[in-house]
This record gives sequence, structure tokens and C-alpha cells, in this order.
Amino acid sequence: MRIAFIGGGNMTTSLIGGLLGDGTDAGTIAVADPVPAQLKRLQEDFGVRGFHDNTDAVADAEVVVLAVKPQQLAGVAKGIAAELGGQRRLVISIAAGIRLDDLQRWLGAGCAIVRAMPNRPALIGAGVTALFAADCVSAAERRNAEAILGACGATVWLTQESQMDAVTAVSGSGPAYFFLLAEALEQAGVQLGLPAATARLLAVETARGAGSMMAQGRASPAELREQVTSTGGTTAAALAVLDRAGVRDIFVLAVNAAAQRSAQLADEYG
Ligand SMILES: NC(=O)c1ccc[n+]([C@@H]2O[C@H](COP(=O)([O-])OP(=O)(O)OC[C@H]3O[C@@H](n4cnc5c(N)ncnc54)[C@H](OP(=O)(O)O)[C@@H]3O)[C@@H](O)[C@H]2O)c1
Repeated sequence: MRIAFIGGGNMTTSLIGGLLGDGTDAGTIAVADPVPAQLKRLQEDFGVRGFHDNTDAVADAEVVVLAVKPQQLAGVAKGIAAELGGQRRLVISIAAGIRLDDLQRWLGAGCAIVRAMPNRPALIGAGVTALFAADCVSAAERRNAEAILGACGATVWLTQESQMDAVTAVSGSGPAYFFLLAEALEQAGVQLGLPAATARLLAVETARGAGSMMAQGRASPAELREQVTSTGGTTAAALAVLDRAGVRDIFVLAVNAAAQRSAQLADEYG
């Protein structure tokens, strides 16, 4: 499978790293980016083929991954549409918020388009990506899209494109919610008299341990919480304060705000 990445930034770097780690031959990967230093770094680090011109990069590609910023995508897609026109290609867009019908309009007929929404931990191979395919995408093309995004973490298929706004709000923005929680834990530890470095280590390693336990999937997050909460104990005292403050409802409101913003951005860039 020959893959061309348009945009050689953070996400492309992670995906290429993951693909090479999975045994993909670097010679099958092309990258286009306008910044010479960026291209040079990718070529030196990974041995991939680099191009300054997007149309040159996609010329012999079977799969094209659009990995530029959402506001750059319309121009990029229209710029390669003619080159893509000759044969059927799988085009995967990882740009937040850009809808399939806009991509189809910009790219023209003949492309099998998949939208993907990865998240920031993809940078360390621990991401989660939701995918949604246009009706015309075949089972084999879906498997290829899943293999590429799966190089950076877990994947899940959506049944409706409208679910992408919820994905953006839950897992796309989600790492920031956990970072905020770690910040607050660290701050509380310092206020209780811990050295800053100790408070940070405790917060970060607690997040890692709790995340790993949840990822094992042996118990739901609610069950795990109940298991560490003894009646009348320290955890129960803390959780009672959080419940009284309505923390769950506040989280639901916050995630709703992110989903609404995602829908607005799609309107702005589409
Ligand atoms: N990072 C995340 O956590 C994350 C999560 C989910 C989805 N995404 C999506 O993934 C996409 C890429 O994100 P990223 O973090 O990898 O962004 P990034 O690091 O800014 O990478 C984008 C790259 O594309 C280059 N570029 C700009 N215009 C171009 C053009 N006309 N042709 C080819 N390349 C061009 C940029 O160069 P310049 O720097 O010169 O502009 C930059 O090197 C975005 O659409 C974002 O919404 C990112």
C-alpha cells in the first residue's frame, strides 16, 4: 500500500512512526510539506520520500492522508483533486471538524473518503481514533484506514457522521480534562504541604495507574471507583465533596460545550 501524507506535522510524524514500527516499508511512504526543515527531518528520521509539491506526493499513492490544519484543508484538497481524479484512491482526513460532503465536493468523485479523529496521545502511540466512512468505501478500504490509524493506538468505527462532534468532545479534547485533573491534584498536594515535585509525581503516576486499570477492562470505571471507596473512609469524604459540587453535571456541560464548538467549526471551515 503506497501512502502519501499531506502535511508533515505532529500527527503525520506519529502515524509514520507507528507504521514503520508495524513493519511498513519506508519507501512506500511519501510526505508533502511546504517547510523544507520539516521534510528534511522526516526524511532523515524515517527514510520516507519527501515532496514540496502535494500533487507530486499523491501521484502514485493508493492512500492519501490529509493531515493539515482544518483551515488549510479546502485549499489542499482542491489543489490535489485533479491529480487524484485518474484512479480510485482511499483518502483519509484527520482534520478536526471537516465533513464528508465538503471533502467530497473539494476532491470530486472517485475518492473513497474516510474521516478519522485521533487524539493527542497518538503522539506516543497511545491514542484512540474514531473513524467514519462514506457509503462507497469498501471493506478492504476500511481495513486499510483502520490499519493506518491503528498504528497509533486503538480505533473504533462510528455509524453516523454526526457522532464525530461527540468524539471530538470526549476523546479529542479529553486529554485536557485529565491534564486539568492532574494539575488540580498537584496543586492540592502542594497546599497540603508536599514538595511540588513530589505532588506532581504522585498526581501523574496516579493518573497512569488509574488509566491502566481502566484500560485492562476487567471492571468498569464506576466499579473501580466503588472498589477504592470504603464507607466512612478518606476517598468517600473527597467524593462527597465532588458530588455536592455537582462535578459530574459540570463535566457533562463542559463536554457538551466542546461538541457544540466542534459543530460550529465544521460550519466555519466547510
Ligand atoms: N495534534 C492533535 O492532537 C490532533 C488530534 C486530532 C486531530 N488532529 C488534526 O490533525 C491535523 C494535523 O494536526 P497536527 O497537530 O499534525 O498539525 P501540524 O503539526 O500543524 O501539521 C500540519 C502540517 O501541515 C503543513 N502544511 C500547511 N499547509 C500545507 C499545505 N498547503 N500542503 C501541505 N502541508 C501543509 C504545516 O506546515 P506549517 O507549519 O508551515 O503550516 C504543518 O507542518 C489537523 O487537521 C488537526 O485538526 C490533530
